[in-house]
Amino acid sequence: SSNKQNSLQKFHMILQTALEFYSENIFKNKKALNYLEKRGLNENDIKRFKLGYAPENWDSLLENFKNKDYSNEDLIELGLIKRASTGNFFDVFRDRIIFPIYNKNQNIVGFGGRALDGESTAKYINSQESKVFNKSREVYGLVSRGEKIRKKGFVILMEGYMDVLSAHKNDFENAVASLGTAFTDEQAKLLKRYTNNIVISYDNDEAGKNALFRASYILKKHEFNVKCLFFPKGIKDPDEFFQSNDKKKFVELLKESVDIFEYMFSEFSYDIDIKTVEGKKIFIDRFKEFFANLQNRIEIDIYLDKLSEEL
Ligand code: GTP
Ligand code: MN
Ligand code: MN
Ligand code: MN
Ligand code: MN
Repeated sequence: SSNKQNSLQKFHMILQTALEFYSENIFKNKKALNYLEKRGLNENDIKRFKLGYAPENWDSLLENFKNKDYSNEDLIELGLIKRASTGNFFDVFRDRIIFPIYNKNQNIVGFGGRALDGESTAKYINSQESKVFNKSREVYGLVSRGEKIRKKGFVILMEGYMDVLSAHKNDFENAVASLGTAFTDEQAKLLKRYTNNIVISYDNDEAGKNALFRASYILKKHEFNVKCLFFPKGIKDPDEFFQSNDKKKFVELLKESVDIFEYMFSEFSYDIDIKTVEGKKIFIDRFKEFFANLQNRIEIDIYLDKLSEEL
């Protein structure tokens, strides 16, 4: 209804107002600017990616909203402030770099916030779910209504905010990240609007590898062509890669990216002897979830053929 439209519009405007506040503050804060500089982001990048800074104070955002026409209930709904047991309100994002999260229509739906030290407190926090923010339905880095993905013909899936920013800086504006949670069916459906092709570029660690498998199953359910990209040893994630490599090097990695089945094949067989019956049983069993999610008859046949050939 148009009432609902209006209230959503109101929430987007509040978030836009909050972002303007965070944006003004980043250029006033030497510590935040230094931190971003250390991470390879200059003033142009800050403007381009609309990064902000939430001050240390407990109530700077609250103060900023004081003479504006929005209620504390609205700010609470959006996860911008909270009420303490004393009854006082306080800002949720404090002393953090702010990453605005946009939906496919380019409205702000929430924020990510990174701590500057990351030891005394959670490294990242995200806005809580709200009437305009359903975490499992959004991705970070979706620019120009998906046009960048459509043009390139594929999407690159990464883990984090900084990974996506580094990729975009290097002209891979088809990179997105799921929001700190496991990749979901809704995110697959969202990306499916723009392409059938995905390259997963998760972190070079055990957690990244597990997440890669889980995301692949979901992507296969939604009939994506899934490839995976790997970094040389010692490089922990895409952001780190781009700190010491140029875009040409990334294009090479993209060219070397392999079909998810090929990767699974080597991962699932490395600790067993697939020449033995016992080994074959374990090996086939590890593919259960993959095959259970395949939708396309031809694809199933091709992968089954490959399996039986190898066995
Ligand atoms: P940087 O240290 O800034 O480079 O972070 P990263 O992106 O490399 O961190 P990591 O690989 O550990 O995490 C990937 C993504 O998971 C982040 O970008 C966040 O979206 C999310 N994440 C990481 N740590 C936390 C956390 O403590 N809380 C929440 N809610 N999300 C997190
Ligand atoms: Mn982590
Ligand atoms: Mn990680
Ligand atoms: Mn990482
Ligand atoms: Mn990182």
